Amino acid sequence: MSKRKIILDVDTGSDDALAIMTALLAPEHFEVVGICSVHGNRPIENTTENTLRVVELLGSEVPVIRGCAAPLTAQIDPLRALRIRANQKELEDGEQVQYHAEQLPLPPATRTPLPGAYASIWYIETLMAAKEKITLVMVGPQTNFALAYRIEPRILEQVEEIVIMGGGHDQHNSTGAAEFNIFADPEAAAIVFECGEKVPLTVLPLDATHLANMRPHHEALFRSWGTAVGDFVADQIRERLDAYNVMQPLHEPDIAPIHDALCLIYLMDESVITKKKFVRADVVCGGMADGDTLFDTRYYTDRPKNCTVCLSTDEEKFAALFVEVLSRAR
Ligand code: RIB
Ligand code: CA
Repeated sequence: MSKRKIILDVDTGSDDALAIMTALLAPEHFEVVGICSVHGNRPIENTTENTLRVVELLGSEVPVIRGCAAPLTAQIDPLRALRIRANQKELEDGEQVQYHAEQLPLPPATRTPLPGAYASIWYIETLMAAKEKITLVMVGPQTNFALAYRIEPRILEQVEEIVIMGGGHDQHNSTGAAEFNIFADPEAAAIVFECGEKVPLTVLPLDATHLANMRPHHEALFRSWGTAVGDFVADQIRERLDAYNVMQPLHEPDIAPIHDALCLIYLMDESVITKKKFVRADVVCGGMADGDTLFDTRYYTDRPKNCTVCLSTDEEKFAALFVEVLSRAR
């Protein structure tokens, strides 16, 4: 596969952090043009600082650009008060489990986000000036790019592909109908899905990412390195193992989905996805199914097909590739 220029859009976050590391540790596959932070797992101040901490952990100079602090419109209607799933839970012994720490357990960042830059504007400036097409990898709410596209639709002309971690066909997490990244800003997702009629859009929903797991023996492997990087990765895996065991048991115990990293592993080796289909995809905005992603898998669809949806993953291949790439930081 030829090397891609990519822009990451992240709500860092434990699995976002591991996705950023995957991208930065595979320079033969990715030239990371920039990393945009967005609201989501934690407030924008935290997701921005956490992104900077991860980038500095690997000694990278890639620019981090601060993005939107809130969804486009989803928080305006009080009847749509977003019932975002709890990020943490207190246990009887006083301990707490959480999916995403407010501040990642890394040294405070020594640098700031790109001064005077705002992600949506930076997208426009970067894409309009791009000499080669760029792949957009969005693993949080899609607010930043949706706003950029509304300001300047011509930016799509320099987009190679849009890859999103989000949505669910048969699996959900924020509500019985929705996955977090979509539920946090359904209107933004709907705008980005609209782009799928003009540029290639690939969506990796929970159906695929619930099979992109790390397990206790992977935690132990990274811990065995005895280094700051190995301990950080092990800590993120352990935090996610505990959170899923307590708050969201999946198809078997002691598994931790590394949702966001699957997007990068897929771009490195598409065979990690064992089932995908070109479909019509739409997003429900408002009502009982607010944030639901409708993947119309029928042969004849009412509207143009606009998305390749990934529906299953080779768990072993994901784990092997993910460990191989992160092991470059040993
Ligand atoms: O539903 C999983 C997604 O929500 C992941 O991107 C995770 O980081 C959270 O943002
Ligand atoms: Ca994320």
